[in-house]
Amino acid sequence: MSKGRVGAGRRRARLLMAALALGAPLAHSLVVGAAPPRPEAERPAATTTAPISAHASKPVSGGGEAPHGALPMHKQHAAFDKVIKAMPPGAPAGIDPAFWKVIVPADNAMNDARVALGRRLFFDARLSRDGTVACATCHDISRGFTDRRGTSEGVGDRIGQRNAPTTMNAFLFSSQFLDGRVATLEEQATLPIINPIEMGMPDDKAVMAAIAKDPEYAKMFQAAYGRAPTFGDVGRAIAAFERTLVFLDAPFDRFLAGDLGAIDDDAKAGWILFNGKARCGSCHQMSSSSPIGSDNRFHNIGVSARHQDFEGLAKKALEALGKDASKETIDRLALETNLSELGRFVVTRNRADIGAFKSSQVRNVGITAPYMHDGSIATLWDVMDHYNKGGEANPFLDGGIEPLALTEKEIDQVVSFLFALTDVRFADDNKAEHDRQKKLSTTRRPLRDEAAANRKVLQFELRAAGQKEQR
Ligand code: HEC
Ligand code: HEC
Repeated sequence: MSKGRVGAGRRRARLLMAALALGAPLAHSLVVGAAPPRPEAERPAATTTAPISAHASKPVSGGGEAPHGALPMHKQHAAFDKVIKAMPPGAPAGIDPAFWKVIVPADNAMNDARVALGRRLFFDARLSRDGTVACATCHDISRGFTDRRGTSEGVGDRIGQRNAPTTMNAFLFSSQFLDGRVATLEEQATLPIINPIEMGMPDDKAVMAAIAKDPEYAKMFQAAYGRAPTFGDVGRAIAAFERTLVFLDAPFDRFLAGDLGAIDDDAKAGWILFNGKARCGSCHQMSSSSPIGSDNRFHNIGVSARHQDFEGLAKKALEALGKDASKETIDRLALETNLSELGRFVVTRNRADIGAFKSSQVRNVGITAPYMHDGSIATLWDVMDHYNKGGEANPFLDGGIEPLALTEKEIDQVVSFLFALTDVRFADDNKAEHDRQKKLSTTRRPLRDEAAANRKVLQFELRAAGQKEQR
């Protein structure tokens, strides 16, 4: 335990020193504890389901022959054993012990029995209506704990509205889901199981009945929580397991720890740009109190603004939420309807949150394509093109998004830095993804707009002149 403490302390000091040496702005914002938990509510009434539009339903790489293109679960277990060793008690290396104390809930302290149970549940497709979908179907270890699809495919091959973020390091967010609609991993974990288009179980009773069919589970719940299985403990055990998904050992960390050759010159230049000219660090702070590079806040960065009538959607959302604003309803609106694009607004009903999503983590981002809440951006070069042109103009665009005038070389440098954020245990996958994306980007740069990036055209001028906007 003391080892983890020393490691974390040392890493904090190094991170601070490196940040100072490179002139990075230091951020210490530690936003813990999001919205208070919502009261439990009954199942939502039917909601308006819009036509489902997916950007890509075939995984871009990885996966295997299990249903929905996942790596078969026994192979995922084997792969998992290779990358995760038993976790010593106390805060994992790289995480401040004080912070660790805050993020592990008092009623769900970590222990081996809980982690083992959570692991079994996470990879168990029997928790789905048709036995084809586990958490690990969409959070597949061979695909960076995502499904590498535009938007996810669940039971009955239903395609949802959102891209699956990675579960690597997700325990470090102060809220869960891309719109932060739940506060904890415990709450999060039960929702996909009963969401009609994810794992599709009709209700918690059906889940518990499936679990009761396997006597091994009764023993494991007893060992983990000292009682018979409950739906709440399903969520707790999965959350405990997810708190072992610590992937904070990237070449970049080794560079900060003093191994100057761990990342190349391009990545070093990229780190400076990330905190400076490219302005990424204003939302994706990398610091000891923000090790995954998210400010845990919500911003409209103009991803899907091109094809959205935000005002019309907001009106519809208020109508739907006026009837029922339970946790389950919000989950369904987000995953099954075109109100999904409203992002945080569906949770807060605050106009300033229209089209706003949680700042993603930038850890391991090299192996989690495609990007953004709708999976609409294919490569990290395209991500850079998006930011470089100042996002997609819309009335709710965050003030921090504006044209960056980055040169092609500078874009390459930031991309190099981003690929240096993948944990060394996934180095091969990272290299393969880098090469795949690089190749794609040489033939296809759909979001590149140099005139906008260099402010040679201004969107509002085009509008005033009655011309079509160019983005
Ligand atoms: C059908 C695919 C699918 C399945 C199955 C699935 N997820 Fe997800 N997961 C998603 C998508 C899509 C999102 C983003 C949804 C959103 O933000 O609205 C998500 C979000 C998450 C997040 C939030 C991460 C973050 O960065 O905020 C966690 C944690 C998570 N899932 C864990 C789980 C667990 C645990 C299970 C099993 C009980 C599970 N998922 C099952 C697709 C899936
Ligand atoms: C104003 C805040 C803000 C700034 C500045 C910003 N980002 Fe983001 N970033 C976000 C938000 C919010 C998301 C999630 C948006 C979504 O899902 O639609 C995001 C998503 C991403 C993603 C996608 C991650 C994934 O897994 O899908 C990457 C990569 C990324 N940002 C990198 C960068 C880089 C590089 C820069 C600098 C050029 C930058 N960001 C600047 C807020 C910001």
